[in-house]
Amino acid sequence: MRILSGIQPTGTLHIGNYLGAIKQWVELQNSKNFDEKTGCIFIVVDLHSLTVDYDPKQMQKMILDVAMDYLAAGIDPKKNTIFVQSHVKEHAELSWLLQTITPMGELERMTQYKDKSKQNKENINAGLFAYPVLMAADILLYKTTIVPVGDDQAQHVELTREIARKFNNKFGQTFPEPKTQLQKSGARIMSLTNPMQKMSKSIPQGCIFLTDSEQTIREKIKTAVTDSGKEIKFNETNKPAISNLLTIYHLFSGKSIPEIEKNYENKGYGDFKTGLADVVVDNLRKFQENRKKFEKDPELVKKILTQGAKKAQKIAEETMEEVKKKMGLI
Ligand code: ADP
Ligand code: TRP
Repeated sequence: MRILSGIQPTGTLHIGNYLGAIKQWVELQNSKNFDEKTGCIFIVVDLHSLTVDYDPKQMQKMILDVAMDYLAAGIDPKKNTIFVQSHVKEHAELSWLLQTITPMGELERMTQYKDKSKQNKENINAGLFAYPVLMAADILLYKTTIVPVGDDQAQHVELTREIARKFNNKFGQTFPEPKTQLQKSGARIMSLTNPMQKMSKSIPQGCIFLTDSEQTIREKIKTAVTDSGKEIKFNETNKPAISNLLTIYHLFSGKSIPEIEKNYENKGYGDFKTGLADVVVDNLRKFQENRKKFEKDPELVKKILTQGAKKAQKIAEETMEEVKKKMGLI
Protein backbone atom coordinates (compact mmCIF):
# COMPACT_ATOMS: atom_id res chain seq x y z
CA MET A 1 0.00 0.00 0.00
CA ARG A 2 1.32 3.41 -0.95
CA ILE A 3 -0.59 6.58 -0.04
CA LEU A 4 0.20 9.88 -1.73
CA SER A 5 -1.40 13.31 -2.07
CA GLY A 6 -0.53 16.94 -2.69
CA ILE A 7 -1.75 20.53 -2.61
CA GLN A 8 -0.70 23.46 -4.77
CA PRO A 9 1.02 26.46 -3.17
CA THR A 10 -1.49 28.97 -4.51
CA GLY A 11 -2.51 30.73 -1.31
CA THR A 12 -3.67 30.29 2.26
CA LEU A 13 -5.52 27.03 2.83
CA HIS A 14 -9.19 27.07 3.85
CA ILE A 15 -11.39 24.66 5.78
CA GLY A 16 -12.46 23.06 2.46
CA ASN A 17 -8.85 21.98 1.85
CA TYR A 18 -8.59 20.87 5.47
CA LEU A 19 -11.86 18.92 5.73
CA GLY A 20 -11.68 17.59 2.14
CA ALA A 21 -8.04 16.54 2.15
CA ILE A 22 -5.60 17.18 5.02
CA LYS A 23 -7.88 15.96 7.83
CA GLN A 24 -8.06 12.50 6.31
CA TRP A 25 -4.31 12.44 5.76
CA VAL A 26 -3.84 12.91 9.50
CA GLU A 27 -6.46 10.23 10.20
CA LEU A 28 -4.66 7.83 7.86
CA GLN A 29 -1.40 8.46 9.66
CA ASN A 30 -3.08 7.76 13.00
CA SER A 31 -5.03 4.71 11.83
CA LYS A 32 -4.28 1.14 12.89
CA ASN A 33 -3.25 -0.06 9.44
CA PHE A 34 -0.77 2.78 8.89
CA ASP A 35 2.47 1.26 7.73
CA GLU A 36 5.28 2.93 9.69
CA LYS A 37 7.88 1.63 7.23
CA THR A 38 6.48 3.18 4.04
CA GLY A 39 4.48 6.02 5.59
CA CYS A 40 2.61 8.42 3.32
CA ILE A 41 3.93 10.89 0.76
CA PHE A 42 2.65 14.47 0.91
CA ILE A 43 3.84 16.86 -1.78
CA VAL A 44 3.76 20.62 -2.15
CA VAL A 45 3.02 20.62 -5.89
CA ASP A 46 4.73 23.83 -6.97
CA LEU A 47 5.07 22.81 -10.65
CA HIS A 48 1.28 22.54 -10.89
CA SER A 49 0.83 26.03 -9.51
CA LEU A 50 2.83 27.56 -12.39
CA THR A 51 -0.08 26.82 -14.74
CA VAL A 52 -2.03 29.88 -13.51
CA ASP A 53 -0.78 33.46 -13.07
CA TYR A 54 1.47 33.87 -10.05
CA ASP A 55 4.10 36.18 -8.56
CA PRO A 56 7.59 34.60 -8.64
CA LYS A 57 8.62 36.79 -5.69
CA GLN A 58 5.91 35.19 -3.54
CA MET A 59 6.49 31.59 -4.62
CA GLN A 60 9.02 30.57 -1.95
CA LYS A 61 6.75 31.92 0.78
CA MET A 62 3.72 30.13 -0.66
CA ILE A 63 5.62 26.83 -0.78
CA LEU A 64 6.74 27.18 2.82
CA ASP A 65 3.19 28.15 3.85
CA VAL A 66 1.68 24.91 2.55
CA ALA A 67 4.46 22.88 4.17
CA MET A 68 3.74 24.62 7.49
CA ASP A 69 0.03 23.90 7.07
CA TYR A 70 0.77 20.20 6.61
CA LEU A 71 2.95 20.13 9.70
CA ALA A 72 0.62 22.24 11.85
CA ALA A 73 -2.32 20.00 10.93
CA GLY A 74 -0.43 17.13 12.53
CA ILE A 75 1.38 15.38 9.71
CA ASP A 76 4.43 13.87 11.32
CA PRO A 77 7.56 14.24 9.16
CA LYS A 78 9.18 11.32 10.98
CA LYS A 79 6.44 8.96 9.85
CA ASN A 80 5.83 10.42 6.37
CA THR A 81 7.67 11.96 3.46
CA ILE A 82 6.96 15.67 2.91
CA PHE A 83 8.68 17.48 0.05
CA VAL A 84 8.45 20.02 -2.77
CA GLN A 85 7.62 18.59 -6.20
CA SER A 86 10.22 20.59 -8.16
CA HIS A 87 13.00 19.32 -5.86
CA VAL A 88 12.60 15.86 -7.39
CA LYS A 89 13.17 16.36 -11.10
CA GLU A 90 11.78 12.93 -12.01
CA HIS A 91 8.23 14.33 -11.72
CA ALA A 92 8.69 16.53 -14.79
CA GLU A 93 10.57 13.78 -16.60
CA LEU A 94 7.93 11.10 -16.08
CA SER A 95 5.22 13.61 -16.93
CA TRP A 96 6.71 14.07 -20.41
CA LEU A 97 6.93 10.34 -21.00
CA LEU A 98 3.32 9.85 -19.91
CA GLN A 99 2.13 12.71 -22.13
CA THR A 100 3.18 10.65 -25.11
CA ILE A 101 0.59 7.99 -24.26
CA THR A 102 -2.22 10.30 -23.03
CA PRO A 103 -4.99 10.98 -25.58
CA MET A 104 -5.75 14.68 -26.16
CA GLY A 105 -9.46 13.85 -26.06
CA GLU A 106 -9.21 12.67 -22.45
CA LEU A 107 -7.50 15.89 -21.37
CA GLU A 108 -10.14 17.97 -23.17
CA ARG A 109 -12.82 16.29 -21.04
CA MET A 110 -11.30 17.34 -17.70
CA THR A 111 -13.71 19.63 -15.81
CA GLN A 112 -10.94 21.40 -13.91
CA TYR A 113 -9.26 22.30 -17.21
CA LYS A 114 -12.54 23.60 -18.59
CA ASP A 115 -13.24 25.65 -15.42
CA LYS A 116 -9.75 27.08 -15.21
CA SER A 117 -9.69 27.97 -18.91
CA LYS A 118 -12.90 29.94 -18.38
CA GLN A 119 -11.45 31.71 -15.34
CA ASN A 120 -8.08 32.49 -16.98
CA LYS A 121 -9.01 33.33 -20.57
CA GLU A 122 -5.78 35.34 -21.03
CA ASN A 123 -3.52 32.48 -19.97
CA ILE A 124 -4.69 29.12 -21.31
CA ASN A 125 -1.25 27.53 -21.54
CA ALA A 126 -0.13 24.04 -22.54
CA GLY A 127 0.83 23.34 -18.91
CA LEU A 128 -2.76 23.89 -17.80
CA PHE A 129 -3.87 21.37 -20.40
CA ALA A 130 -1.23 18.80 -19.42
CA TYR A 131 -1.78 19.40 -15.68
CA PRO A 132 -3.52 16.04 -15.06
CA VAL A 133 -0.59 14.17 -16.65
CA LEU A 134 1.84 15.80 -14.22
CA MET A 135 -0.50 14.70 -11.43
CA ALA A 136 -0.47 11.18 -12.87
CA ALA A 137 3.34 11.32 -12.84
CA ASP A 138 3.32 12.38 -9.15
CA ILE A 139 1.13 9.42 -8.33
CA LEU A 140 2.72 6.73 -10.53
CA LEU A 141 6.34 7.67 -9.78
CA TYR A 142 5.86 6.17 -6.32
CA LYS A 143 3.62 3.31 -7.51
CA THR A 144 0.85 4.79 -5.39
CA THR A 145 -2.22 2.71 -4.63
CA ILE A 146 -4.35 5.21 -2.64
CA VAL A 147 -4.86 8.93 -3.30
CA PRO A 148 -6.77 10.77 -0.54
CA VAL A 149 -8.25 13.95 -2.09
CA GLY A 150 -11.44 15.98 -2.27
CA ASP A 151 -14.02 14.77 -4.77
CA ASP A 152 -13.11 17.44 -7.35
CA GLN A 153 -9.87 15.51 -7.96
CA ALA A 154 -11.50 12.12 -8.54
CA GLN A 155 -11.61 12.67 -12.30
CA HIS A 156 -7.86 13.23 -12.38
CA VAL A 157 -7.21 10.03 -10.44
CA GLU A 158 -9.51 8.18 -12.83
CA LEU A 159 -7.39 9.46 -15.73
CA THR A 160 -4.26 8.35 -13.86
CA ARG A 161 -5.71 4.83 -13.74
CA GLU A 162 -6.24 4.94 -17.46
CA ILE A 163 -2.71 6.15 -18.11
CA ALA A 164 -1.34 3.38 -15.87
CA ARG A 165 -3.41 0.77 -17.73
CA LYS A 166 -2.26 2.09 -21.08
CA PHE A 167 1.40 2.08 -20.01
CA ASN A 168 1.12 -1.46 -18.64
CA ASN A 169 -0.53 -2.74 -21.83
CA LYS A 170 2.01 -1.10 -24.08
CA PHE A 171 5.24 -1.64 -22.16
CA GLY A 172 4.52 -4.40 -19.62
CA GLN A 173 3.12 -4.43 -16.07
CA THR A 174 4.72 -1.52 -14.20
CA PHE A 175 2.16 0.59 -12.33
CA PRO A 176 -0.66 -0.37 -9.96
CA GLU A 177 -3.97 1.40 -10.67
CA PRO A 178 -4.44 3.93 -7.87
CA LYS A 179 -7.77 4.45 -6.12
CA THR A 180 -9.28 7.74 -4.94
CA GLN A 181 -10.06 7.86 -1.26
CA LEU A 182 -12.69 10.45 -0.43
CA GLN A 183 -13.50 11.83 3.00
CA LYS A 184 -16.03 9.38 4.49
CA SER A 185 -19.00 11.68 4.09
CA GLY A 186 -17.85 12.45 0.54
CA ALA A 187 -17.71 16.05 1.63
CA ARG A 188 -17.40 18.93 -0.70
CA ILE A 189 -17.43 22.07 1.39
CA MET A 190 -19.35 24.85 -0.30
CA SER A 191 -18.77 28.59 -0.19
CA LEU A 192 -20.31 30.45 2.76
CA THR A 193 -21.52 33.17 0.43
CA ASN A 194 -22.87 30.84 -2.27
CA PRO A 195 -23.72 27.24 -1.35
CA MET A 196 -23.91 26.27 -5.02
CA GLN A 197 -20.20 26.93 -5.49
CA LYS A 198 -17.37 25.02 -3.83
CA MET A 199 -15.33 26.84 -1.21
CA SER A 200 -12.24 27.90 -3.14
CA LYS A 201 -9.26 30.21 -2.74
CA SER A 202 -10.38 31.89 -5.94
CA ILE A 203 -13.47 33.24 -4.11
CA PRO A 204 -11.96 34.38 -0.80
CA GLN A 205 -15.14 35.97 0.63
CA GLY A 206 -16.75 32.53 0.87
CA CYS A 207 -13.80 30.87 2.63
CA ILE A 208 -12.82 30.37 6.24
CA PHE A 209 -9.05 30.32 6.08
CA LEU A 210 -7.10 28.16 8.51
CA THR A 211 -5.26 31.26 9.68
CA ASP A 212 -8.36 33.46 10.23
CA SER A 213 -8.64 35.05 13.69
CA GLU A 214 -11.43 34.03 16.06
CA GLN A 215 -13.21 37.30 15.39
CA THR A 216 -13.05 36.86 11.61
CA ILE A 217 -14.32 33.27 11.85
CA ARG A 218 -17.28 34.33 14.01
CA GLU A 219 -18.07 37.20 11.67
CA LYS A 220 -17.92 35.02 8.55
CA ILE A 221 -20.19 32.37 10.05
CA LYS A 222 -22.63 34.99 11.31
CA THR A 223 -22.97 36.48 7.84
CA ALA A 224 -22.99 33.14 5.97
CA VAL A 225 -26.04 32.84 3.72
CA THR A 226 -28.88 30.62 4.94
CA ASP A 227 -32.02 29.18 3.33
CA SER A 228 -35.65 30.07 3.75
CA GLY A 229 -37.46 28.54 6.72
CA LYS A 230 -36.10 28.28 10.24
CA GLU A 231 -35.43 24.59 10.63
CA ILE A 232 -31.93 23.16 11.06
CA LYS A 233 -32.38 20.19 8.73
CA PHE A 234 -30.02 18.50 6.29
CA ASN A 235 -31.51 18.65 2.81
CA GLU A 236 -29.06 19.40 0.02
CA THR A 237 -31.76 20.16 -2.55
CA ASN A 238 -34.01 22.45 -0.57
CA LYS A 239 -31.59 23.70 2.07
CA PRO A 240 -28.11 23.75 0.49
CA ALA A 241 -26.73 26.49 2.76
CA ILE A 242 -27.79 24.91 6.06
CA SER A 243 -26.73 21.48 4.80
CA ASN A 244 -23.26 22.84 4.11
CA LEU A 245 -23.03 24.38 7.60
CA LEU A 246 -24.22 21.08 9.11
CA THR A 247 -21.52 19.21 7.18
CA ILE A 248 -18.85 21.58 8.51
CA TYR A 249 -20.22 21.18 12.06
CA HIS A 250 -20.27 17.38 11.67
CA LEU A 251 -16.73 17.08 10.30
CA PHE A 252 -15.18 19.35 12.90
CA SER A 253 -17.09 18.02 15.93
CA GLY A 254 -17.36 14.33 15.02
CA LYS A 255 -21.06 14.49 15.97
CA SER A 256 -23.49 12.89 13.52
CA ILE A 257 -25.78 15.13 11.49
CA PRO A 258 -29.02 13.76 13.08
CA GLU A 259 -27.48 14.42 16.51
CA ILE A 260 -26.71 18.03 15.60
CA GLU A 261 -30.19 18.50 14.10
CA LYS A 262 -31.68 17.21 17.34
CA ASN A 263 -29.57 19.56 19.49
CA TYR A 264 -30.90 22.53 17.53
CA GLU A 265 -34.43 21.23 17.11
CA ASN A 266 -36.35 24.20 18.43
CA LYS A 267 -33.64 26.77 18.03
CA GLY A 268 -33.08 29.27 15.24
CA TYR A 269 -30.27 29.86 12.76
CA GLY A 270 -28.64 32.34 15.18
CA ASP A 271 -28.07 29.74 17.92
CA PHE A 272 -26.90 27.18 15.39
CA LYS A 273 -24.39 29.59 13.90
CA THR A 274 -23.00 30.49 17.34
CA GLY A 275 -22.58 26.79 18.10
CA LEU A 276 -20.89 26.20 14.76
CA ALA A 277 -18.52 29.14 15.30
CA ASP A 278 -17.52 27.68 18.71
CA VAL A 279 -16.73 24.32 17.12
CA VAL A 280 -14.69 25.81 14.26
CA VAL A 281 -12.77 28.22 16.51
CA ASP A 282 -11.96 25.43 18.97
CA ASN A 283 -10.67 23.14 16.26
CA LEU A 284 -8.58 25.76 14.49
CA ARG A 285 -7.04 27.01 17.75
CA LYS A 286 -4.74 24.01 18.10
CA PHE A 287 -3.77 24.22 14.44
CA GLN A 288 -2.94 27.91 14.77
CA GLU A 289 -0.85 27.37 17.90
CA ASN A 290 1.13 24.66 16.14
CA ARG A 291 1.58 26.81 13.08
CA LYS A 292 3.08 29.66 15.11
CA LYS A 293 5.85 27.32 16.26
CA PHE A 294 6.79 26.50 12.68
CA GLU A 295 6.51 30.13 11.56
CA LYS A 296 9.18 30.95 14.13
CA ASP A 297 11.48 28.29 12.73
CA PRO A 298 11.38 28.30 8.91
CA GLU A 299 14.82 26.68 8.81
CA LEU A 300 13.42 23.60 10.49
CA VAL A 301 10.65 23.41 7.87
CA LYS A 302 13.20 23.76 5.05
CA LYS A 303 15.27 20.98 6.59
CA ILE A 304 12.24 18.70 6.73
CA LEU A 305 11.57 19.42 3.03
CA THR A 306 15.18 18.72 2.04
CA GLN A 307 15.20 15.42 3.88
CA GLY A 308 11.83 14.53 2.35
CA ALA A 309 13.08 15.22 -1.16
CA LYS A 310 16.08 12.97 -0.58
CA LYS A 311 13.87 10.10 0.52
CA ALA A 312 11.47 10.60 -2.39
CA GLN A 313 14.26 10.89 -4.95
CA LYS A 314 15.51 7.40 -4.16
CA ILE A 315 12.17 5.82 -5.03
CA ALA A 316 11.70 8.13 -8.02
CA GLU A 317 15.07 7.16 -9.51
CA GLU A 318 14.27 3.47 -9.26
CA THR A 319 10.92 3.90 -11.02
CA MET A 320 12.47 6.05 -13.75
CA GLU A 321 15.09 3.46 -14.47
CA GLU A 322 12.42 0.80 -14.86
CA VAL A 323 10.23 3.07 -17.01
CA LYS A 324 13.08 4.11 -19.29
CA LYS A 325 14.17 0.52 -19.78
CA LYS A 326 10.63 -0.52 -20.66
CA MET A 327 10.23 2.38 -23.07
CA GLY A 328 13.50 1.57 -24.80
CA LEU A 329 15.37 4.68 -23.66
CA ILE A 330 18.15 2.79 -21.90
P1 ADP B 1 -8.77 25.53 -4.28
O1 ADP B 1 -9.99 25.18 -5.08
O2 ADP B 1 -9.12 26.32 -3.08
O3 ADP B 1 -7.70 26.18 -5.12
P2 ADP B 1 -7.16 23.16 -4.43
O4 ADP B 1 -7.65 22.90 -5.81
O5 ADP B 1 -5.76 23.64 -4.25
O6 ADP B 1 -8.18 24.17 -3.73
O7 ADP B 1 -7.39 21.85 -3.58
C1 ADP B 1 -6.48 21.21 -2.71
C2 ADP B 1 -7.13 19.98 -2.07
O8 ADP B 1 -8.26 20.38 -1.28
C3 ADP B 1 -7.69 18.94 -3.06
O9 ADP B 1 -7.52 17.64 -2.54
C4 ADP B 1 -9.14 19.29 -3.14
O10 ADP B 1 -9.92 18.17 -3.50
C5 ADP B 1 -9.44 19.74 -1.73
N1 ADP B 1 -10.50 20.76 -1.73
C6 ADP B 1 -10.42 22.01 -2.26
N2 ADP B 1 -11.55 22.70 -2.08
C7 ADP B 1 -12.39 21.87 -1.43
C8 ADP B 1 -13.72 21.99 -0.95
N3 ADP B 1 -14.40 23.12 -1.10
N4 ADP B 1 -14.27 20.94 -0.31
C9 ADP B 1 -13.58 19.79 -0.13
N5 ADP B 1 -12.32 19.61 -0.56
C10 ADP B 1 -11.71 20.61 -1.19
N1 TRP C 1 -4.36 18.47 -8.67
C1 TRP C 1 -4.44 18.49 -7.23
C2 TRP C 1 -5.34 19.68 -6.80
O1 TRP C 1 -5.63 20.56 -7.58
C3 TRP C 1 -3.09 18.63 -6.60
C4 TRP C 1 -2.20 17.46 -6.92
C5 TRP C 1 -1.11 17.45 -7.72
C6 TRP C 1 -2.31 16.14 -6.39
N2 TRP C 1 -0.52 16.24 -7.74
C7 TRP C 1 -1.22 15.39 -6.94
C8 TRP C 1 -3.20 15.54 -5.53
C9 TRP C 1 -1.05 14.03 -6.63
C10 TRP C 1 -3.03 14.17 -5.25
C11 TRP C 1 -1.96 13.43 -5.78
O2 TRP C 1 -5.76 19.72 -5.68
